[in-house]
Amino acid sequence: MIDFDNQPFDTRAFRDALGCYPTGVVVVTAAGQGKSSHIGITVNSFTSVSLDPPLVLWAIDRRSRRHDTFVGAPAFTISILSADHRAVSLRLAGAGEHSLDGLTLLPTVLGPPALSDSLAVFECARAQVVDAGDHSVLIGRVLRFFRPQTGAPLIYFQGRYSGLAQD
Ligand SMILES: Cc1cc2nc3c(=O)[nH]c(=O)nc-3n(C[C@H](O)[C@H](O)[C@H](O)COP(=O)(O)O)c2cc1C
Repeated sequence: MIDFDNQPFDTRAFRDALGCYPTGVVVVTAAGQGKSSHIGITVNSFTSVSLDPPLVLWAIDRRSRRHDTFVGAPAFTISILSADHRAVSLRLAGAGEHSLDGLTLLPTVLGPPALSDSLAVFECARAQVVDAGDHSVLIGRVLRFFRPQTGAPLIYFQGRYSGLAQD
């Protein structure tokens, strides 16, 4: 039997290899703990899961200061970022930079606001949390969605922001 835990494995090279997969970028928002208002985090692990029932997922690092708040939140909102959202994405990827103060937001029915000018917004009720190594996978049931604007998406590839190459 192979002892997987004692095989040499280059985590840095693994991360770089994963970065060869280009993704879009989303911001996930949820109610903050205690008296703090809503918070956000930049995420590229977002994926669609199921059409019926409508399910999506994203994963949060257990080491994130925002981990327990997002895992404990009964609802979260996912905003798909446009190419014009690079500054917002940078800000909400900053260590400890969780607040939505000063950002232009759109109200939602479930509560956590969306980012204005997003390409699509999914209002989710937390359906399941799965422990997965150093991340927690949050599966959300989409209760509402809307598309605030059309346009080009923000792309993340090999550790850098990029645009979508058009024919
Ligand atoms: C493009 C991009 C995608 C990211 N995707 C994720 C993600 O899917 N899950 C995650 O936990 N952190 C992700 N991060 C990191 C977080 O945005 C953030 O930097 C980190 O949680 C900061 O730590 P803190 O939450 O303790 O302040 C991503 C960062 C960038 C720039």
